[in-house]
Amino acid sequence: MAERIEVLLSEEEVDKRIQEIGEQISKDYVGKQVHLVCVLKGGSFFMCELAKRITVPVSLDFMSVSSYGGDTKSSGVVRIVKDLDEPLGNKHVLVVEDIVDSGRTLSYLLEMLKDRGPADVKLCTLLDKPERRVVDVKVDYTGFQIPDEFVVGYGLDYDQKYRNLPYIGVVKFD
Ligand code: IMP
Ligand code: MG
Repeated sequence: MAERIEVLLSEEEVDKRIQEIGEQISKDYVGKQVHLVCVLKGGSFFMCELAKRITVPVSLDFMSVSSYGGDTKSSGVVRIVKDLDEPLGNKHVLVVEDIVDSGRTLSYLLEMLKDRGPADVKLCTLLDKPERRVVDVKVDYTGFQIPDEFVVGYGLDYDQKYRNLPYIGVVKFD
């Protein structure tokens, strides 16, 4: 089916907000090293942009969990596809996600990471769809709260497409 993309948040708006979050994180983590944990693949664009705007020391790691298939509904299944390379002991972990939707992925992931002995674990998401929440998740840094629509761009895909868009768009089918 053909789909078109309508701009929801422009590149300028997203960049400006990431700069603000980067400044906030830099203040909150003064005197510490922040260990960014990127949830692949969606979180990668956001994490790179965010990391460049953080002024305290930063280290990075990546993990991949299964979430969506080729449609726009959550499978509810959370599976670790790629685990972190480094242990988390005594680190100030900041999980960087593209979007919190039902909250299933994140609640599972956060509990798992907390069991690995970090100093603390916080969550930073570019987008949040609060209306869709099924499982309660504490979000420490949010880029934007958005309505319940399927979005793409800035790492987010529809059937593996559109991750490279430098803005956030809504997928329209007509
Ligand atoms: P949750 O477990 O339902 O919170 O789902 C989180 C994951 O679902 C995100 O990390 C995305 O990969 C995917 N997802 C949720 N909503 C959207 C969307 O609007 N567009 C693209 N991917 C989405
Ligand atoms: Mg994701």
